[in-house]
Amino acid sequence: MTTKMPTDTPSPEPQSICSPITSSAIFIVATLKPASEAAEKVRDWCADIAALTRSVGKRVPSGNLSCVVGFGSTAWDTLFGSPRPVSLHTFREFGAVGRQAISTPGDILLHIRADQMDLCFELATQLLASLGDAITVVDEVQGFRYFDMRSIIGFVDGTENPVGRKAVDFTAVGDEDQPFAGGSYVLVQKYLHNMNAWNALSVEAQERIIGRTKLSDIELDDAVKPTSSHSALTTITHNGQEVKILRDNMPFGRPGAGEFGTYFIGYARSPDPLELMLENMFVGRPPGNYDRLLDFSTAVTGGLFFVPSSDLLEQLADRAS
Ligand code: HEM
Repeated sequence: MTTKMPTDTPSPEPQSICSPITSSAIFIVATLKPASEAAEKVRDWCADIAALTRSVGKRVPSGNLSCVVGFGSTAWDTLFGSPRPVSLHTFREFGAVGRQAISTPGDILLHIRADQMDLCFELATQLLASLGDAITVVDEVQGFRYFDMRSIIGFVDGTENPVGRKAVDFTAVGDEDQPFAGGSYVLVQKYLHNMNAWNALSVEAQERIIGRTKLSDIELDDAVKPTSSHSALTTITHNGQEVKILRDNMPFGRPGAGEFGTYFIGYARSPDPLELMLENMFVGRPPGNYDRLLDFSTAVTGGLFFVPSSDLLEQLADRAS
């Protein structure tokens, strides 16, 4: 009698996108130096990321350290050439001056999360040391968890995120782009808030802008929830089904400098839902019916990246463009 061996190839392991909620994060956006040795160095680095994360994380097993790495569209071509993720392109801008989702330079994104900032800090240090002068860091933000999961504007943030199996289904590329299965698209924007103006609003006015109650975080009834509310404009459907993204925004700031911000990060299996949400927020649905949160918030950066699966990330080290 012959024994049948399983023939299914296991599906590629996503990077730690659906990792548990943590209290700290560091977001780093870097550009690639033009020299060809720089590209070589970044490719080699792809094979080191997992080991460096293990080395730092093992020292505090309860610290939930994780790292997600993504690459911008131009960088993908320079570093890895063809094939490329079918939907990867540079960040599309939405809106017009005064209320605009702007695109800013960025080739590599690091999203480092842990329950202690020292773990994030150490891993960021190690990863950047390993990249050496191959890159230039153009933006670096240390985010913190603010009270009971609240954004800096005082509302609980992340409630409507998909969880469990759904989180994977909404974020991991599947058969639609088989060579990149297990990968994700990620959109980041750094927002600065005018807190004096925001705090001058009544709680009820703020609640109509977000579409949820402030203290108890309950969605407003459809009868009273404005169509311009943040929650209404970021709820989207495709063929009658709601399409979700996975967010892990973090507050950041420097009270002494009057800086109060939200680092927005959203993962999805295609850029489409992320871009439709941005269009609804900045242009409006219908145009003009825009997100009033933007009267108090300015996007100062914007980037779209592709996050290869963990397996592909390691293999990319051997890819010559
Ligand atoms: C100024 C920066 C932002 C702040 C402070 C913010 C804050 C919030 C808050 C407080 C909620 C309600 C609770 C929740 O379900 O999480 C929310 C919901 C949501 N936000 Fe944002 N957000 C920001 C930007 C964005 C952007 C740029 C996008 C998409 C591109 C987005 C997508 C969503 C989605 C999909 C929901 C859930 C909607 C629902 O299903 O009800 N947010 N956000």
